[in-house]
Amino acid sequence: MKNILSCIVTIITLSFLTTNAQGRKVSQSYETYEYTAITCRSHSASITDFGGVGDGKTLNTKAFQSAVDHLSQYSSDGGAQLFVPAGKWLTGSFSLTSHFTLFLHKDATLLAAQDLEEYLVLKALPSYGRGRDAAGGRFASLVFGTNLSDVIITGNNGTIDGQGSFWWQKFHGGKLKYTRPYLIELMFSDTIQISNITLIDSPSWNIHPVYSSNIIVKGVTIIAPVKSPNTDGINPDSCTNTRIEDCYIISGDDCVAVKSGWDEYGISFGMPTKHLIIRRLTCISPYSAAIALGSEMSGGIEDVRAEEITAYQTESGVRIKTAVGRGAFVRNVYVRGMRLHTMKWVFWMTGNYKAHADSHYDPHALPEITGINYRDIVAENVSMAGRLEGISGDPFKGICISNATISMAVKHKKVMWMCSDVEGVTSGVDPKPCDLLDGKQEKMDGGCEFPSDVLEIDNVELKSCSYQMN
Ligand SMILES: *[C@@H]1O[C@H](CO)[C@@H](O)[C@H](O)[C@H]1NC(C)=O
Ligand SMILES: *[C@@H]1O[C@H](CO)[C@@H](O)[C@H](O)[C@H]1NC(C)=O
Ligand SMILES: *[C@@H]1O[C@H](CO)[C@@H](O)[C@H](O)[C@H]1NC(C)=O
Ligand SMILES: *[C@@H]1O[C@H](CO)[C@@H](O)[C@H](O)[C@H]1NC(C)=O
Ligand SMILES: *[C@@H]1O[C@H](CO)[C@@H](O)[C@H](O)[C@H]1NC(C)=O
Repeated sequence: MKNILSCIVTIITLSFLTTNAQGRKVSQSYETYEYTAITCRSHSASITDFGGVGDGKTLNTKAFQSAVDHLSQYSSDGGAQLFVPAGKWLTGSFSLTSHFTLFLHKDATLLAAQDLEEYLVLKALPSYGRGRDAAGGRFASLVFGTNLSDVIITGNNGTIDGQGSFWWQKFHGGKLKYTRPYLIELMFSDTIQISNITLIDSPSWNIHPVYSSNIIVKGVTIIAPVKSPNTDGINPDSCTNTRIEDCYIISGDDCVAVKSGWDEYGISFGMPTKHLIIRRLTCISPYSAAIALGSEMSGGIEDVRAEEITAYQTESGVRIKTAVGRGAFVRNVYVRGMRLHTMKWVFWMTGNYKAHADSHYDPHALPEITGINYRDIVAENVSMAGRLEGISGDPFKGICISNATISMAVKHKKVMWMCSDVEGVTSGVDPKPCDLLDGKQEKMDGGCEFPSDVLEIDNVELKSCSYQMN
């Protein structure tokens, strides 16, 4: 078999050379695309090999699924990459396989079908107990994967267009039996890369890695109308070892929302999000946060590091949202280097976030919020410096803020800090913080802590790979 294959390859190569020698224009169809990835692939195919038509009208759900199913035979033989050429590729939900790369050409757009039938209905996530839009199941995401290893979604800035208005209208009209699909969701998977693509108008969340580990999201642009419902950018949910860098997000909800399950369901599933680094994020989200921790955090959130965060017209910087009944913890959060322009609250913590999965949550399950560090922050045109509201009888502890210069808007609130049920320390913060943050100042010389060790996910290097179109 190997011999026959290499024979075919030789013939193709020869005919290529011959054609070339005759001076025919073949360069177009033999283009090579270079990209960087955690792993390169031994086998390649194009969606057109599976009957795909990029005219924006032909439905390609079956073409994508049969391409992936066919290429899954190479999982244990160097893996495969599926190329999506320039064109508009209308498709419903399809599932990926292991050791697989989906590569979108810069002029390729995956257009999400506006047809409920094109999305399988899945059970509610075990750590949530119900869907977010509806109590029942949830539509599978456009690009979906579960129980996979080594999956890459990349390109030279190709696009996935969720055509979300169809879904937003149904959502606002209360017409959905199931929760809206996300654009990309990978569940129970290990070693994931999502890079160099643009996502627009998602029906709901954009990128949702859940119960997964070793994830890199890099160079992704996410755009949705600032009033579109729940169009969160990137939601690492019960994930370990995640690196999100060089992303640019404009959306109707939190640019990055770190989660780990909801109330009693999240507590019993018990899978935290930990070892997460977010760097060089640019965010515009007038009604939400640049980075939110929660509100679903019932599996716990720990060791989150955020640096070089820029936000324009965003409601708050790094926000903590939680409630009685959530249980678990948010601890060891480190933020350094934020530049914020036009903002309601630079610092925002909310202990009474209302939404619950159902009425069976445990009123004794109090979240433990501790070790929240912010340093080196410059903010301009701010309405209120901080609004920090812990939980009565369960104060948020170990809050540290250092070297923060906040310039207030002309029409700022009279009270610049509103604090309740919080404890912490500050140094070099202007305007002067609330008295509750006036704790002992020991260990404050170097400012608030930011860990100096390197996370495992930061040691992962990307290799140079290529796709040769033929
Ligand atoms: C995926 O893995 C999870 C957790 O290990 C398991 O519960 C589930 O049954 C698996 N699903 C499939 C489709 O294999
Ligand atoms: C991917 O984006 C990075 C910046 O995040 C850029 O340096 C690189 O050239 C891009 N690669 C491709 C194939 O477009
Ligand atoms: C990718 O495309 C988006 C949308 O057209 C654009 O805003 C962004 O600047 C592009 N990114 C790169 C790295 O070219
Ligand atoms: C304070 O923060 C600013 C802005 O990030 C930074 O340029 C400066 O070096 C910081 N100062 C100290 C003493 O760390
Ligand atoms: C300051 O913020 C207000 C909203 O609070 C906005 O209307 C105004 O344009 C901003 N000014 C600048 C200079 O960005």
